[in-house]
Amino acid sequence: GRVAVFMGGDSAEREVSLKSGQAVLSALQSAGVDAVGMDIRGCLLRTVENPEFDRVFIALHGRGGEDGTLQAILGQAGIPYTGSEVLASSLAMDKLRTKYVFEGCGLPTPAFRAMKSVDEAEAIVAALGTPLSVKPAHEGSSIGIRKVRSASELAEAYEAAAAMDDLVLVEKWIEGPEFTVSLLQDRALPAIGLSTDHDFYDYDAKYLADDTRYRIPCGLAPDDELRLQHLALEAFRVLGCRTWGRVDIMQDAEGEFWLLEVNTVPGMTDHSLVPMAARAAGISFEELVVRILKDTVQ
Ligand code: DAL
Ligand code: MG
Repeated sequence: GRVAVFMGGDSAEREVSLKSGQAVLSALQSAGVDAVGMDIRGCLLRTVENPEFDRVFIALHGRGGEDGTLQAILGQAGIPYTGSEVLASSLAMDKLRTKYVFEGCGLPTPAFRAMKSVDEAEAIVAALGTPLSVKPAHEGSSIGIRKVRSASELAEAYEAAAAMDDLVLVEKWIEGPEFTVSLLQDRALPAIGLSTDHDFYDYDAKYLADDTRYRIPCGLAPDDELRLQHLALEAFRVLGCRTWGRVDIMQDAEGEFWLLEVNTVPGMTDHSLVPMAARAAGISFEELVVRILKDTVQ
């Protein structure tokens, strides 16, 4: 049957999603799959009432597409879709609750607080030290993330993040290097090491800069890479994720790994990491999307 590639949407990651969706669509088509692209804006209910497709490849990033709401609608309509189901999608989209689960399962994640008002700035700096990372809890692609070095910077960054999200997460800053591990059909692909001249791997470093460096092989000793992959797989499993995803992890100066988050619909653009990791494992982009699609069968 026909596959609809859902892309675009209304989230802050709309532009990234359009690129992911186009790449997925052309790969499916060149693999001989009957696929159409659909830009999903606004209410989806009418689209699923008399669908002109049998399955959905979800290439939507961020709120409204990656966060479980769409997955619930498709589930109700009996339409199979790619990737994680409702609970894992919602949990992974919420960086704060993700960390509650990691902590509850004894997995390492940087010390953190949910920040409710600027008045908490002094107390949070006293408890966690500096520098700190301030994040809107439900954004992707590093949108709205800031590094702060004092209580006054924290108060300012809080205001900016609170304007984007009703939940603001403050996390102890881990200097890095940063690694990312892609998961495909419950198997970890080769890890990628990231370095950038920016403060961290931010939106520009992700999609615009050409001086971002990707290391694959990631540069860790084989035992350490295995430990990293195992941690990523654990993170994926405790959230209950399905088929594919990508786990972002920092390493501190002592060599310890710290989980940041799990992405249930990782980027699939030409700058993106999952396709890069797949290629290193001998899996072409075409094969990657076909494998993700195969798992939708209910
Ligand atoms: N949120 C972006 C698309 C990623 O995780 O790759
Ligand atoms: Mg993310």
